[in-house]
Amino acid sequence: MVISSDNKRKAQELLLKLNLDEKIAMIHGAGLFRTGEVKRLGIPSLHMSDGPMGVRMEFADDAWMPAGNTEDYVSYLPSNSAITATFSKECAYESGKVLGEEARGRGKDVILAPGINIKRSPLNGRNFEYMSEDPYLTAEQCVPLIQGIQESDVAACVKHYAVNSQETERLWVDVKVSERALREIYLPAFKAAVSRGKSLSLMGAYNLVRGQHCCESKLLLNQILREEWGYDGVVVSDWGAVHRTKETAESGLDIEMSVTSNFDEYFLADPLKEAIEKGEVSEKDVDEKVRHILGMMFELNMFEEDRKSGCYNTPEHRQKVLETARESIVLLKNENGRLPLKKEKMKKLLVIGQNADKVHSNGGGSAEIKALYEISPLMGLKSQLGGNCEVKFVKGYLAEEKGAQDGNWQESSLENGGGSKKQEENISEKTVAKRKELLEEAVALAKEYDQVIFVGGLNHDYDLEGQDRADMKLPYGQEEVIDAVLAANPETILVFVAGSPVQMGSFADRAKAIVWSFYAGMEGGNALAEVLLGKVNPSGKLPETFPYSHEDCSAHCVGDFAKKDLLEYREGVYVGYRYYEKNQIPVQFPFGHGLSYTDFEYASLEVEKEENGAGLIVNVSCLVKNTGDMAGKEVLQLYVAAKDSAVDRPVKELKGYEKTELKPGETKKVNFALNPESFAYFDEETGHFRAEAGFYEILIGASLTDIRLKGEVMLEKTYEF
Ligand code: BGC
Repeated sequence: MVISSDNKRKAQELLLKLNLDEKIAMIHGAGLFRTGEVKRLGIPSLHMSDGPMGVRMEFADDAWMPAGNTEDYVSYLPSNSAITATFSKECAYESGKVLGEEARGRGKDVILAPGINIKRSPLNGRNFEYMSEDPYLTAEQCVPLIQGIQESDVAACVKHYAVNSQETERLWVDVKVSERALREIYLPAFKAAVSRGKSLSLMGAYNLVRGQHCCESKLLLNQILREEWGYDGVVVSDWGAVHRTKETAESGLDIEMSVTSNFDEYFLADPLKEAIEKGEVSEKDVDEKVRHILGMMFELNMFEEDRKSGCYNTPEHRQKVLETARESIVLLKNENGRLPLKKEKMKKLLVIGQNADKVHSNGGGSAEIKALYEISPLMGLKSQLGGNCEVKFVKGYLAEEKGAQDGNWQESSLENGGGSKKQEENISEKTVAKRKELLEEAVALAKEYDQVIFVGGLNHDYDLEGQDRADMKLPYGQEEVIDAVLAANPETILVFVAGSPVQMGSFADRAKAIVWSFYAGMEGGNALAEVLLGKVNPSGKLPETFPYSHEDCSAHCVGDFAKKDLLEYREGVYVGYRYYEKNQIPVQFPFGHGLSYTDFEYASLEVEKEENGAGLIVNVSCLVKNTGDMAGKEVLQLYVAAKDSAVDRPVKELKGYEKTELKPGETKKVNFALNPESFAYFDEETGHFRAEAGFYEILIGASLTDIRLKGEVMLEKTYEF
């Protein structure tokens, strides 16, 4: 399905020439980021690299140590959350193209990205690497991203398959999830990634699902991935996620990777050879894995002279990164047109907050990279305001200094199970005193300046692989600083740079303007400054709900989170907005929310049903007009609400979205096409998706809660698939 029949044939021919040792060499790590080669037949190693925000630095082949090279600085892309906040499939595709070209340019065959796990809780430390709480949005954004990557003869490796939504005890947590939630929430993006995105590889997760480790799971790998979805690409284990030989050999996993250099002792190395020799495992299982690997190698043109060579650090890449960053920034609040700032009139600006001059590219865990450069918000503002505006920067708050990260953290994370809840470290008296001093300085200055911007949020001490946050509170005493600064100067603009939502309840009502940036890459500071100064009209939308507190989130108040051993997803399909809306729980900012400097008017909804050879299609269209005086982009969101269902269903679900650009006064027609999938739920009794006969509301809005147009459609019959 992802391997052409021609390449399958070539793979089979080559497979027949390999002996057992050679085959085994190809199915496990022979270096920390590569498999073994077969020199005799000219079969190279597969070179892999992290990650979603750019191609990671080089490591020593057999020790978890950066190689210390100077040529592995790269373009730093917006995080997957930022790419998704664009609600633009084009941005996703262009970002994928940049990542793929850079990976190939660095000589890689597989780029370990994108991360497509569902954001079940705002506290997951890796949320910044993931896309959304919504399966449809995740699927729609990951498909073009993967296609973009793979245009450069590099394989995407979607991760982490599956149901991997917390870092705490990530190696040992055993998730109990209903079949319906699995099929409706946690699997659709993976299915789309392999069936529509044609992802040539996929990474098995660390955790267990229903008692089986994902990397040997008969359910996830053999039954669902291989049999149901017909996947013939390569499944790579997460690093150190394999625990047994026979069970893994007999599962749909193809390559065992890990974090230690005893490569011959890996479960799919010498122990596998022994098991085959003893007759405990069939060599046919190994053949199947090698067939997948060779098939992928042929797809990647690895044996061809004219394989694409890629390139990295090009001006074009930086331009694409900037364009995506611009579209990713979300204007959360803008009372009385507080923003944009008028650049021409500004003679003095006060910037408060450590995130204004903090670089983030070098943190986060395996997503860390050596960025060629990273424009901070402060640099973006200063360079765009120029020398006639005096920009004063004060830290405002202070992050507790941490020692350098242990280069071996990935290795040690295997021993301690990985993950622990992040609590703010014991704060020294010195830090307390320093924080007080910084706060007082910020407040005194805020009174003096007309224009004040606070830039805070999180950093990769919080948005970090291997650990979850303890709560949604802003760290480092930021709330206190914001409170005091807003009291001193109520016009202060709040900007947050972070990978997951933070608590804003104590100040959001008082602030006039709030701007949000998910880690937006090397040009993030420029994009942010352009938005603040009105050069770019913001068009990002929240790909996840911002609740008031994590305690409102279903993972915490209905299901379990951050527990060891058995963890129950009792909330079922009620994840993210599906839960808040069903239970009428007020939130800080709803899913899909994001303002613009202009206004859009929606009109003329049309819903037409058509049944043709391809089955049912519901064509939906409407008009959108830019009624303001600034050009802008709007994301029209289509939600479907089942009205006559026999089962309990979410109030409504996202089933379409389109981003469109409009000049002042311009009107455009926007089209959506729905099919039975858009109306379906998973029926546990029959084991099929069902779009039941009956009425459905079609809702078009500017966010989940800002619905502008309503229509309906009647399905005369039930569709099962
Ligand atoms: C992470 C993966 C990553 C791998 C290789 C693991 O710790 O979970 O996402 O790709 O390491 O660095």
